[in-house]
Amino acid sequence: MKQMMIVAGMALCIACGSARRMPEGDMQGARENASLENGRHQYMKYCQKCHPMGEEGLGPALNNKPTPGFVEKFQVRHGLGAMPAFKKDVISKKDLGDLIKYLHTRKKAKRLS
Ligand code: HEC
Repeated sequence: MKQMMIVAGMALCIACGSARRMPEGDMQGARENASLENGRHQYMKYCQKCHPMGEEGLGPALNNKPTPGFVEKFQVRHGLGAMPAFKKDVISKKDLGDLIKYLHTRKKAKRLS
């Protein structure tokens, strides 16, 4: 009988443990990390060669001014001067959102944005 109680207790523990293992906050954190990681990947693929780590390169520094995300998105979609445009078939809407989010973490490191 005592053994039954222990087994039942363990089952209960496992059940509540699994519900508790991923609370909403952690789930959000995991999603946030995944999108930042994707943003970093997109940045490295498309922007790094001209804006190394957000610093000045062939293009100007991006991490030294509080340019809002929508302006940066416009620049990416339309290009300007020596900067090419990146359309939706190259950088999807979600990927660009992640990319800008990542760029802003680079600015945060400099206390901008
Ligand atoms: C081929 C090089 C090149 C690539 C690749 C490139 N850029 Fe640029 N970028 C430039 C140049 C050059 C300018 C300055 C354009 C001008 O003002 O004539 C610029 C300007 C910008 C600006 C405006 C900055 C300011 O201070 O006015 C933003 C924002 C920007 N780039 C973001 C990006 C992002 C995000 C990516 C990746 C998707 C990217 N760029 C890829 C060359 C590049």
